[in-house]
Amino acid sequence: MEGSIVLDSHVIETNALEIHGVSKSFGQNNVLQDLNLTLRKGEVHALMGENGAGKSTLIKIISGVHKADQGEINLNGSKVDFHSPYEAQIGGVATLFQEIQEIPDLSVAENLYAGMEPRKHGFLIDWKKLYSNAQRQIDELGLRIDATQKMRSLSPSSRKMVEIIRAVHKRGASVVIMDEPTANLNQGEIDALFSMIEELKQKGVSIIYISHRMREIFQIANRVSVLRDGRLIRTSNIENISEDEIVKLMVGRDLPALYPQRTPPENEVAMKVDNLTVDGELDSVSFEVRKREILGIAGLEGSGATSVIKALFGLRPVSGGTIEVDGETLVIKNPKRSIAQGLAYVPEDRKEDGLFLNKTVNFNLVANVLKSHFARMGFVVRKRAAQTTSRDVVKRLGIKTTGGMAKIGSLSGGNQQKALVGRWLIGSYKAILLEEPTRGVDIGAKVDIYEEINALARSGLPVVMYSSELLELIGMCDRVVVIRNGRVSGILSGDELTEENILEKAITS
Ligand SMILES: Nc1ncnc2c1ncn2[C@@H]1O[C@H](COP(=O)(O)OP(=O)(O)OP(=O)(O)O)[C@@H](O)[C@H]1O
Ligand SMILES: [Mg+2]
Repeated sequence: MEGSIVLDSHVIETNALEIHGVSKSFGQNNVLQDLNLTLRKGEVHALMGENGAGKSTLIKIISGVHKADQGEINLNGSKVDFHSPYEAQIGGVATLFQEIQEIPDLSVAENLYAGMEPRKHGFLIDWKKLYSNAQRQIDELGLRIDATQKMRSLSPSSRKMVEIIRAVHKRGASVVIMDEPTANLNQGEIDALFSMIEELKQKGVSIIYISHRMREIFQIANRVSVLRDGRLIRTSNIENISEDEIVKLMVGRDLPALYPQRTPPENEVAMKVDNLTVDGELDSVSFEVRKREILGIAGLEGSGATSVIKALFGLRPVSGGTIEVDGETLVIKNPKRSIAQGLAYVPEDRKEDGLFLNKTVNFNLVANVLKSHFARMGFVVRKRAAQTTSRDVVKRLGIKTTGGMAKIGSLSGGNQQKALVGRWLIGSYKAILLEEPTRGVDIGAKVDIYEEINALARSGLPVVMYSSELLELIGMCDRVVVIRNGRVSGILSGDELTEENILEKAITS
């Protein structure tokens, strides 16, 4: 048992963090139960577990966001009890939370140095130095971010990168905790992150790393701990465990095949995109989607791949081209108009474009169809029906919640993602647009989401889906359109659908 190791005084010195018997409940929900975990000096310790297993809750307890009901935490041999992330930071624990935390109206540089800005004569902020220091830090990592820009104007991935740099460069941190840092990042950024992690390790900093991406775990972790239903199931050296074993420990059962058995698409074209153009982003993009077809969109960051979906949904200023669905030309103006014309859309950024975090699960699930299905003259009249419908979606996707009246913001990240997809399972649409539909969800939930996407396609709908995970595109899609420099650089299908082929078409020659 991990817990007994602490009796050996030699080991106490080498452990950066020791968690003893931590328990935590939210109401009736026992989220963590008698949890023990040891973090060694200079190791990358991966924390894995299904959505809702308690990973984020554990790190929130370590970093002073939540208070444990029971248990003890030792940092470098001394007992600690932080009351806020700020206190934790001062105490040597820097945490990068799952949800973006930055202050959108401040510049990149201000966010990077919040609370530790360089000062002139001891009190005035030295703006020139602030910006030049920040810019140098960014440049050294090979990132293309302007330090004077407002955070708000950056892409989600750049914003995440700024948070990462901030957490990693906290002076004096002996423990850095990262909760799904790569969920929003592109490959170049992931590489930059991994080299930062390597540097931290060299300095003897210990890292807790949470991710659902198996590949990453095997790439950077020294040890892995698996949580299930708030308990530690096993801690293992990474060399002594396989992907399959981890999955089995996570879900506690054998999983069915990851990708569903697909029904071949019909010949009839359901959606036709002709010369779609967005100035500076897309140049004459054309493709067709057949009934029952799942069409993938692939492309590197900045290629315009995500712009395709955003443009179709009215989130980009389209300057040319036409979109037809079921033979009718759509008027692409804004999301509201697009929904009215029958388009369903799952955004890549669930916090920004997706969920009402302060509203209930029920509200979020039926939000799109509240007016059309359950209301008359602006009043919700069929409340019961709405609740039943919502309950059905919760069940189909296995959304982990204490009930329909729980605030959606209190659900774990992956369960919020399921809700984001689930809301489009209610109501009738003509075409489905998806961006990163399984971002941050565990492998079991992936199976459920894939099954539902497949069911939407099987019902006759065209589905267009962007994902940065090529294996997901290959597993789910009939064809994949590759975007490079805002243009279609190839359309792959059948045996041509391989990671190598997609990458070859995606990379600028
Ligand atoms: N502030 C809160 N109030 C009520 N319940 C909460 C709160 N935070 C978390 N929970 C519940 O605790 C459980 C564990 O959530 P947690 O966020 O720790 O999961 P996780 O392992 O990080 O999952 P994911 O992989 O989806 O991010 C969930 O059932 C969640 O609904
Ligand atoms: Mg989490």
